[in-house]
Amino acid sequence: MSELIEKLKTIESDTEKRLLQASTLAEVQDCKVRILGKKGELTKLLAGMKDLSPAERPVVGKVVNEVKQRLNRSFERRSGEIEHQEREQRLREERLDITLPGRPRHRGALHPITRTFQKIETIFTGLGFQVAEGPEIEEDFYNFEALNIPKDHPARDMQDTFYIAEEVLLRTHTSPVQVRTMKKQSPPVRIIAPGKVYRCDADVSHTPMFHQVEGLLVDRGIRFGDLKGILEIFLHRMFGEDVGIRFRPSFFPFTEPSAEVDIACVICNGKGCRVCKHSGWLEILGAGMVDPEVFRSVGYDPEEVSGFAFGMGVERIAMLCYRIDDIRLFFENDLHFLSQF
Ligand code: PHE
Repeated sequence: MSELIEKLKTIESDTEKRLLQASTLAEVQDCKVRILGKKGELTKLLAGMKDLSPAERPVVGKVVNEVKQRLNRSFERRSGEIEHQEREQRLREERLDITLPGRPRHRGALHPITRTFQKIETIFTGLGFQVAEGPEIEEDFYNFEALNIPKDHPARDMQDTFYIAEEVLLRTHTSPVQVRTMKKQSPPVRIIAPGKVYRCDADVSHTPMFHQVEGLLVDRGIRFGDLKGILEIFLHRMFGEDVGIRFRPSFFPFTEPSAEVDIACVICNGKGCRVCKHSGWLEILGAGMVDPEVFRSVGYDPEEVSGFAFGMGVERIAMLCYRIDDIRLFFENDLHFLSQF
């Protein structure tokens, strides 16, 4: 037994000496493993305890524990000292050169389409509209049928559609959100629905994916004058109080009567230029009174309620706000273009 204890003491004092010579954290760790590790000296010694008598075991066990504790403290103290020395050393060596020019951080910015969405949403939420959303992969029923566009109706040709399956497609407009919203809730309804839409089309003013904002207001006694009023407020806030506005009769299967709304060309102030094709006007949105057929398909009573809907192309509006003449610029991810916003 006394032999064991002697060995323990030797291990302890040897380790303390070795620790004093250690000059890196790795060396301390190494030392620790050599003593306390699975195959360490102390661990090996402990294996010898099985040869001791039952009376001796607790005595030796106590000494072992004490040595272990002391050594553990020594390991920690030495690591702390070395860390401190290393830090001091680094501080002595690393000099801060305050004459070095700063490295500017690149600041990100919102995409012009996102900014335009936000502007539109701010105006309409200010008028009491709520923001609604719907899926981009849509069923034929919501995109066409419920909007009074039956199969084989020529109005389907107005929108070149990407089909996924026979009854499933990429929505060609945000109008299906009208149907989804009305099927979910009873009147009154006052929503806008911003989002991506898809049509098989590509040139300077068309991309296969683009963005729209739909609007829908349904209540008792809503008239065309209400539609005009809301759209005038919106267009004035969007393009300036004195921008000219014009309503033209048009056709959509889901509104009756329907209108297309123009603003005076913001490029030439209505005098006529290339952008407005020398007409002085720019078409900005489609609108109209919700067709009774649409109300019936969602279970609303057209004798009880009336309403209006409108839909606008966000790229078109962004192009006019920021004077951009090619729609494809929005989607090329070119930082020269994007960092201007
Ligand atoms: N959904 C139509 C389109 O994409 C726009 C529209 C919306 C027209 C609502 C009238 C009412 O062309």
